[in-house]
Order: sequence, then C-alpha cells, then structure tokens
Amino acid sequence: MKRRVRKAVFPVAGLGTRFLPATKANPKEMLTVVDKPLIQYGVEEAVAAGVDTLIFITGRTKNAIMDHFDKAYELEAELEARSKHDLLKLVQDIVPPRVSCVYIRQSEALGLGHAVLCASAVVGDEPFAILLADDLIDAPEGGALAQMIAHFQKFQCSILGVERVPPEETYKYGIVHPLPFAQNQKLSNVDSIVEKPKPAEAPSNLAVVGRYILTPRIFDLLAKTPRGAGNEIQLTDGIAKLLQEEQVLAYEFEGRRYDCGSKLGYLIANIEYGLKHEELGDDFRDYLESLGSKLSETHSSN
Ligand code: UTP
Repeated sequence: MKRRVRKAVFPVAGLGTRFLPATKANPKEMLTVVDKPLIQYGVEEAVAAGVDTLIFITGRTKNAIMDHFDKAYELEAELEARSKHDLLKLVQDIVPPRVSCVYIRQSEALGLGHAVLCASAVVGDEPFAILLADDLIDAPEGGALAQMIAHFQKFQCSILGVERVPPEETYKYGIVHPLPFAQNQKLSNVDSIVEKPKPAEAPSNLAVVGRYILTPRIFDLLAKTPRGAGNEIQLTDGIAKLLQEEQVLAYEFEGRRYDCGSKLGYLIANIEYGLKHEELGDDFRDYLESLGSKLSETHSSN
C-alpha cells in the first residue's frame, strides 16, 4: 500500500542569534514578511500540500507561535462587533478546521536533528515532512512541498529539497553528492551528504534547504547519532546514515527561496513580497522607483 505524507514538523526552537535583539523574546519564525509571520507562510505551504497535522517543536519563546495558531476569542468578537468581516475571515482562516496543531517542547536547543527527534512519538511509523520556516519559498504548483509530495507519491522514498548555490557558499549548507536519476532531471540519487563543507571539499553545489520528506527510519538513526558540529545533533548526520540503508532523492524544486534566517535575505524577501502585495504593491513600486532615481542622482553627483 502506498504511504502518504500527512504530518509536517516545524522546528522552531532555535536561538535565532543572527536576529538578536528581535529574537530575544520572540521566535525568529514570528518575524513578518510584509504582514505575515514566516511560520504562517510555512504552515500555508504544508496545508496546501495536503498535510493535516502540524507539529511544532518549540523552545523557550513558544507562546507567540501557539497564540498565533490558536482561536483569538476577544479579537474575533471585536472584529465582529465592528463589522470587519474581511479581517475576521483572515484571522479565522489561519488554520483550516481539518488541520490540527501539536506542540512539543525541546527543552534544550541541542540541534536540528534533536528537534526532529522530539517529534518521533507524534509522527509514529509514517513518512513526514520537515519545513524550516526561515527558508521562505515562493513557488508555483501549490508550493515547494506539494511538488516534493507529488514525487514522494511516485517513488515512496525520502526526498530532500535542494537548490544550486554559488560554489563559494557551500560552507553554509548541507551539500549532497548527486548521482543521476534516470526518470527526471530535477531529481538525483543522493550518494552522500556533508554538513557545511568548505568550497574545496564540497561534493557539488547542490545545497539542502529547509524542506525534507523523510521516512520514520530517521528517528532510530537520530537516536543513535552523537553530537557533531557545534556540539549539536545534526539532521545531516542522521540523513548520512539513512542513505546507507535506503534510497534518498534530492529534488531541485521550482521556485525562489529567500534565506530569511539572514538579515539580507530577510530584507530582500520583504521587498519582493512587498512589490507583489495586492494592496500596496503599486505604491511600493512607485516609492522604490523614486528612491532608485534619487540614489542614481546622488551616485552621479559624487
Ligand atoms: P538555525 O541553524 O537557523 O539556527 O536552525 P537558529 O538558532 O534558529 O538561528 P541562528 O543561526 O542562531 O541565527 C535551523 C532551524 O532549526 C531549528 C531553528 O528554529 C530553525 O528553524 N532548531 C535549531 C531547533 O528547533 N532546535 C535546535 O536546537 C536548533
């Protein structure tokens, strides 16, 4: 019988040190791109891909995320009383009724691999997705995860979301060594995976970004994985063991990824999403054009 991906894990317990002080009392995943928190973009992507259980691995600043996906009685009553029906629908539709949310506390930030392991009892013996919400992906065909799930339905094995990065940036990512996969050029067989290799040591420039579909075998392997780089349990180390036992594919998804875990990537995402925004896109474009003219005048007078 074919297995389905019904559950998605959102590790949101990292310290977010690159965004301090913004992340002192708030998780990084609650940072907004224009008017929506990063985590909501991730949840919408998972729900659009057919996921019905969202598992959040939270840390010390969990309340904002739980509150965001919970019913807001007072706010809803207030919006109702003021006949703000559009806004009421907007807050009520954040999580559709068919979808349930589960929160698990990761008591210590022992790494992404450890965060994923915390989900094992709730995921059980089924394939599942992992989404890192700070990798924001603007993608066609229902989103990057939906594309990956379509391949999972066919091949029934673990699939890593990957993209080509500039060769000098391999040290920021898990990098795969791909072998050709006959059936589709966007897919490759993962032969090996290395965490954050120096450019000279990288097996390719295909980087794993924040989307994974994994079989439950990963939990047994993570449970036996010692602490690695940064004294953390690395998901990459678990995947390296998984691919010795099972087929693991890498999939170059259609779409553009914004690295919202870095300040520059986050600012770029705000600009691009601002330009596409239904309500303010046109005004924002006018503003950017006038700013561009001012900047080039200053540049030419210097
Ligand atoms: P990052 O490597 O981006 O770390 O984690 P971070 O702590 O969030 O951010 P910086 O580097 O200090 O700024 C990748 C993902 O794994 C989660 C993070 O929340 C993020 O979504 N994570 C990381 C956990 O849930 N637990 C951990 O112990 C570590």
